Amino acid sequence: MKKYVNKILSGLLGILIIIQFIQPERNESGTAPGDIAGKYAVPDEVMEVLKPACYDCHSNQTRYPWYASIQPVAWWLAGHVNDGKRHLNFHEFTTRKIAVQNHKLEEIIEMVKEKEMPLGSYTWTHADARLSDAQRDLITNWAQSAMDGLKAQYPADSLVLRRK
Ligand code: HEC
Repeated sequence: MKKYVNKILSGLLGILIIIQFIQPERNESGTAPGDIAGKYAVPDEVMEVLKPACYDCHSNQTRYPWYASIQPVAWWLAGHVNDGKRHLNFHEFTTRKIAVQNHKLEEIIEMVKEKEMPLGSYTWTHADARLSDAQRDLITNWAQSAMDGLKAQYPADSLVLRRK
């Protein structure tokens, strides 16, 4: 029995060591073909909240903590980053259709107001991403004024997202 347990444990240890050498690609290109600030006014105080609270998962530049090199944590983090970027990327924001941009702004308001974002597992380890009520208001007011700007600038039906 003891021999059996030893075999399993050393097998698991072997796997743990081997997976350290399989590292996912890092999200550090920093390229910004459609930076949100290229089209929308983003005041410094808004960016000072968005950067630490959202950019690690919603941009092309993630700041990796030391434990991001340890597997399987690296896979878990890469999953969040890839998933987050697919939904919203502040560095590629203006490459999307105007109706999509409008919709993303609306979702930002919703997610921040409902405290769904930033992710709980993230604020647990990133104190600078724990938003106060004032910071949440700052983000939602900013996103709302960006939406108002679009409304003033584009015909109403071009802002409606049509799902195929
Ligand atoms: C630790 C990673 C992480 C952080 C930090 C983070 N998000 Fe997210 N976000 C995700 C993931 C993953 C998804 C997609 C899955 C989901 O909806 O839960 C998502 C989804 C969203 C969506 C939904 C988009 C859609 O298409 O439904 C919005 C809007 C959003 N995040 C805004 C924000 C804002 C604003 C911040 C900062 C205040 C933020 N997120 C911080 C990971 C993150």
